[in-house]
Amino acid sequence: MDNLHELLVNRRSIRRYTDEPIDPEQVRLILEAGLLAPTSKSSRSWQFIAVEDKEMLERLSQCKPAGAAPIGKCTLAVVVAGDPSASEPWIEDASVAAAYMQLQAADLGLGSCWIQVRGRFAADNTPSDEYVSELLGIPENYPVLCILTFGHKNEERRPQAIDKLLWEKVHIGSWKPIE
Ligand SMILES: Cc1cc2nc3c(=O)[nH]c(=O)nc-3n(C[C@H](O)[C@H](O)[C@H](O)COP(=O)(O)O)c2cc1C
Repeated sequence: MDNLHELLVNRRSIRRYTDEPIDPEQVRLILEAGLLAPTSKSSRSWQFIAVEDKEMLERLSQCKPAGAAPIGKCTLAVVVAGDPSASEPWIEDASVAAAYMQLQAADLGLGSCWIQVRGRFAADNTPSDEYVSELLGIPENYPVLCILTFGHKNEERRPQAIDKLLWEKVHIGSWKPIE
């Protein structure tokens, strides 16, 4: 897509994927998008763990009882972790990088979905971030924010409805109470 606005309107969370693997060059471009993201004080406080192994994806999908199923269906997951000792706003750093990777994937015509990990719990009440870190050997001081799922789309989603955007949440000049 050669128009950013068009890409933003058409990007939707995709939770179903075909079995077709993502081209390695496209995987590289997605990860590179994360590395290109801006960070507070240029701290680059994030860490990205790319996972393609089917069995590991299946295990990661158990990180919480609801909302994590796309991990078991995708062909690539990128676990996004941060380093609070490198950047107090590590969550913001990691979130911007995650969004960049999702937008790069959309530009490549691939589907993606953000799966929230931070603050969530597995079925046995283990914090989801601990569950993921244990599986992948992520050190304790690199908390996991989210898992991004990527793959070739196996569902069609309508573009965003431009006429339903919440313009009442935009305040010009100063806060205007919502009527
Ligand atoms: C911080 C954040 C957490 C999210 N967590 C999940 C999740 O755990 N599971 C999931 O299926 N989708 C998750 N999503 C995707 C949202 O559900 C989705 O972006 C929202 O419904 C709007 O739909 P759209 O992305 O198609 O425009 C998350 C998105 C964000 C930004």
